[in-house]
Amino acid sequence: MIGFLDRLTRPLLHALDPEDAHGLAIKMLKFAPLPPAPRDDKRLALRVFGLNVPNPVGIAAGFDKNAEAPDALLRLGFGFVEVGTITPLPQPGNPRPRLFRLDADHGVINRLGFNSQGADAALKRLAARSNAGGVVGINVGANKDSADRVADYVQLIERFAAVASYVTVNISSPNTPGLRNLQQASVLDDLLARVVDARERVAPNAGPTPVLLKIAPDLSLGDLDDVVGIARSRQVDGMIVGNTTVARPPTLLETAIAKEAGGLSGRPLFPLANRMLAETYVRVEGVFPLIGAGGIDSGATALAKMRAGASLIQVYSGLVFRGLGLVAEIKNTLLEALETEGQDNLQDFIGADAAAVTAEEWPH
Ligand SMILES: Cc1cc2nc3c(=O)[nH]c(=O)nc-3n(C[C@H](O)[C@H](O)[C@H](O)COP(=O)(O)O)c2cc1C
Repeated sequence: MIGFLDRLTRPLLHALDPEDAHGLAIKMLKFAPLPPAPRDDKRLALRVFGLNVPNPVGIAAGFDKNAEAPDALLRLGFGFVEVGTITPLPQPGNPRPRLFRLDADHGVINRLGFNSQGADAALKRLAARSNAGGVVGINVGANKDSADRVADYVQLIERFAAVASYVTVNISSPNTPGLRNLQQASVLDDLLARVVDARERVAPNAGPTPVLLKIAPDLSLGDLDDVVGIARSRQVDGMIVGNTTVARPPTLLETAIAKEAGGLSGRPLFPLANRMLAETYVRVEGVFPLIGAGGIDSGATALAKMRAGASLIQVYSGLVFRGLGLVAEIKNTLLEALETEGQDNLQDFIGADAAAVTAEEWPH
């Protein structure tokens, strides 16, 4: 069924303007009568952030920004789904065009700027499926015109904790001016203190909600020292490494499109994202788990991401170029690796290569 849908729709989706294609994909998912996903091999299951995932392959934030199709995405075989970024109030984002495909590079540049239907619309949908099961994380962000961005995050944690498997504090989008300044030490310490406090406040009714921090791959290593130190001292439950990059690797072939402003994702992001993941892993010292995102477009890159330090992984741009078959390919590769290594779960892969990756030449 998935293969059939994929073969039918991919050429059409590829011929469309990228944002129209995305809108159509969400609509199809919302209405496609998908059967439940077949049960995953038990060896792919993991317990992370106190959550049981049937497999480590998630769909990253930004695909289902308004929580329109989390259950359809789970039925496609993802082990978990992250919806959002959701902002408190609806906002249109930046003017179109704001989404570009770098076909020759298997990359994407976006400067969507948190287009969001707002918290009310998403909350209504999530409340309606709150007993449906499955791990559904909610990625939250501040409104562009907010007078108090920290208050936006606090409010969103309070409102979404009850319907979220976990909440991601996204301070790493390059497309909301000034947002990434929240990664600066003094600001971040205050933000995380208030966010974790909000989580504790609502826990008696909402239950325990893991709070994750999503960072940019463009931080300097000195900044990363600070960010990890604060995340540890404020006791967040995990980090996502990471978002899109404002860098443009010199190897890009689509040089004209590469000049578009925005965050680059997909294959050209892999080396930097993987390095930053490993750098984060060695600094975190096992205190909390990491989700690895950025440039996964094959079973091999997914396994490399886990070996660099990811307990769970997320894909987005790879789906544009490889289609939904990517999810099954990754799971198969992980199972093959388990067979080869004689392991019966994925735990031993996580971070096995982190130290080695940090010793490589810096990627560019
Ligand atoms: C079109 C697009 C929209 C995105 N929107 C968001 C978003 O709203 N919030 C967020 O945290 N990340 C967003 N991202 C970043 C992805 O979640 C992911 O971190 C990044 O794309 C790297 O993964 P990839 O190389 O597999 O795409 C977006 C990425 C793309 C391509």
